[in-house]
Amino acid sequence: MSEHAVLDLTARYAGDYLGSLETRPVRAQAGVHALRAALGGPLPERPGEATAVIEALIAGAEPGVVAIPGGRYFGFVIGGALPAALAADWLTSTWDQNAGLFAGGPSASVVEEVAAGWLAELLGLPAGVTSAFVTGCQLAHVTALAAARHGMLERVGWDVERDGLAGSPPLRVVVGEERHVTIDRALRLLGIGVSQIVAVPADRQGRMRAGGLLELLGSSQAPTIVCAQVGNVNTGAVDPLPAIADAASAAGAWLHVDGAFGMWAAASPELRPLVEGIERADSWATDAHKWLNVPYDSGLMFCAHPAAHRAAMSAHASYLVQAEPGAARDQLDWTPEFSRRARGFPVYAALRTLGRSGVAELIDRCHAHARRFAELLGSEPDVEILNEVVLNQVLVRFHADDEATREVVSRVQEDGTCWLSGTTWQGVAAMRISVSNWRTTEDDVERSAAAILRLAAAVRTPAVA
Ligand SMILES: Cc1ncc(COP(=O)(O)O)c(C=O)c1O
Repeated sequence: MSEHAVLDLTARYAGDYLGSLETRPVRAQAGVHALRAALGGPLPERPGEATAVIEALIAGAEPGVVAIPGGRYFGFVIGGALPAALAADWLTSTWDQNAGLFAGGPSASVVEEVAAGWLAELLGLPAGVTSAFVTGCQLAHVTALAAARHGMLERVGWDVERDGLAGSPPLRVVVGEERHVTIDRALRLLGIGVSQIVAVPADRQGRMRAGGLLELLGSSQAPTIVCAQVGNVNTGAVDPLPAIADAASAAGAWLHVDGAFGMWAAASPELRPLVEGIERADSWATDAHKWLNVPYDSGLMFCAHPAAHRAAMSAHASYLVQAEPGAARDQLDWTPEFSRRARGFPVYAALRTLGRSGVAELIDRCHAHARRFAELLGSEPDVEILNEVVLNQVLVRFHADDEATREVVSRVQEDGTCWLSGTTWQGVAAMRISVSNWRTTEDDVERSAAAILRLAAAVRTPAVA
């Protein structure tokens, strides 16, 4: 069989699969036992023919695939895949570059350079920021906070790359109480323990209360990193960046922004005021696989201190073919990976296919859909919207009851019209709706809201049962 046969088969299947998103249940249809039975078995003794392998993979795996690329998937904060970004992702695998070095794929290196410049402009970051294309916001935090660790310890005369953390001046990290869990994990990976984290209380929306921040920062001489959040994973709320940036700059602290999805508000003229002051940070972490609708995995990091960023990441070995400094970009000098996927291609394709106005329109449209959800659901008597819908996140509570709310979430997941999940927000159970997919239409929102309300009406609270 020719290479063409298996690729043609896969392309045809991909088109058919995407065409079925409109009608297929959003949830996975097979459970763990059925999937193990379909996909498991002994390691084959003999080679298999490629088309037969792919046909068997499709048959075995498709029942366990969640319709995430479809317009009615509202779980976690997950985008779809724009057609051009998906196609560029196929090219990424086809070209199979090792994008650690310029020499391992010159086009991959240049495309990252170009896309990073476009992104910095789109997100309103200062000219000259350095960047890293990584797997997701988690690794973007690791990269950014490694640069922060280097930069802050250098200011007190400690070379962390040479001497490590044993015996170093202790770092302090100031975060909002409602920060994302990936901040803590990034710090742990960098040798900064939980006891070095100082959490500032948050308000009802999850925004850091920055009123006493200056005093807090001034209360210790320890080199300090402040982590602000632009887009709380539950509410979408944005920390008060101008006040945080004022305090961080007055105290000589490094300001890192977790903008996994919320940073994309900067690309919308309408929502941009929400993230005013974002350009004043020292480092930023965000995702392309969320609101830019690039396929997994695709995270982005930016840094306003090129020397600290490079010092924290760079690697050299005599067998490598490394570009002269400034001549070309060897990505491994800026990322925690060595060998790596050429993640710039799909990001580049997404930006070219949307353009500046298309990104703004995508963000505004998802925001409008989220507001419509809140309007449709919130107008029912037993339904409460718990958050101000400032971005793409909606928190919903049913029958003023935790158990009833969890039951509605579970019934919606089972029903298959749409998919979303639950959370606990400030002590009470809530349904989380995240609208992050380019495909979502008004009709998707209306169909989903109708299904949610129908299922909620069938759930009775213990009090009225
Ligand atoms: C605010 C925030 N930060 C970080 C992350 C982690 O992103 P990733 O899953 O891309 O690592 C998320 C994920 O939803 C998030 O919402």
